Amino acid sequence: MFPKDVSILQINGWGYGMISFGLEGKGALVAGAGSVPGRAGHGPATCLRLAAAGATVACVDIDEGRAAEVVAVVERSGGRAFPVVADLTDRTQVERAVTEAASQLPSLDACVDIVGGARWDRVGDFSTEDWEWTLRNNLTQVFYVFQTVGRHMMEQGTGGSLVALASVDGIAAAALHAPYGAAKAGVISLVKTFSQELGRYGIRANAVAPGNVGTGNEDWPEGTWAADTINPLAPPRTRDIANAALFLCSSLAERISGQTLVVDGGASTRELWGMTEDLLPQWRTGLYDRSKVSE
Ligand SMILES: NC(=O)c1ccc[n+]([C@@H]2O[C@H](COP(=O)([O-])OP(=O)(O)OC[C@H]3O[C@@H](n4cnc5c(N)ncnc54)[C@H](O)[C@@H]3O)[C@@H](O)[C@H]2O)c1
Repeated sequence: MFPKDVSILQINGWGYGMISFGLEGKGALVAGAGSVPGRAGHGPATCLRLAAAGATVACVDIDEGRAAEVVAVVERSGGRAFPVVADLTDRTQVERAVTEAASQLPSLDACVDIVGGARWDRVGDFSTEDWEWTLRNNLTQVFYVFQTVGRHMMEQGTGGSLVALASVDGIAAAALHAPYGAAKAGVISLVKTFSQELGRYGIRANAVAPGNVGTGNEDWPEGTWAADTINPLAPPRTRDIANAALFLCSSLAERISGQTLVVDGGASTRELWGMTEDLLPQWRTGLYDRSKVSE
């Protein structure tokens, strides 16, 4: 006998055929949908994934050219998308952008907020301008976007999924970029609060926390593991972040809310003791020198 859940899935015809993401004919808003040259390109990758799952994508960006470019990329791949131009750090523009997006989407069912970035300095030297810029771009605008899209989803009455890009720096220390770590920790907190308050409307809120997605990570040969000292598995790529965002937007995650999905090739699981395989024989024979381990 199968457990009850599995039996129900079988009765409903699941287990046969292809798995659906539940996004066919639905609408998604991607905030910061374009890409700054030389950066990871989380916006376009997320738009492409959502479109490939069947959603029409409202590509919102501060830069008209970048918004148009990502729309063209999605359309070339056979998906549906349209541009919306807005500075999402401005509450009035967020409200206008969400209204504009919703009026062209079949419905507003998913939202992924990509906007963000870090400035670097010592904790002792950070300027007020850099502190405020970082909080505004990484945290305040997520609040505006989630609040406005959340209100729309509540009125629509068919639930929805809110996703924001956080960072492993919101979980571990963010040395030399303190405001960024604090802002991303704020995003991790925000998704818990939105999940608590909007759950009764069927609205979920989650974050994806990328590790070090460099633009060269795509170049690691397939099947090459533990190739650097940071990632026990392999460096995360842009597509891995987009896959996580798609999963959280999809019906596959329909009972997941308030969570942060870390996508970092295992980097944040690294142990702290410095124990290595070379030291194991010493440990077994009682000659284990603790000072060596903490070196
Ligand atoms: N690359 C990594 O290693 C990494 C790691 C952790 C987290 N992240 C997160 O990923 C996100 C950035 O991803 P990326 O580097 O691919 O993006 P990006 O810097 O290329 O920017 C994406 C788009 O956002 C737009 N944008 C910027 N400010 C905006 C605003 N005020 N309103 C509307 N649109 C705006 C830009 O025009 C751009 O097209 C950030 O949230 C960052 O914290 C990245």
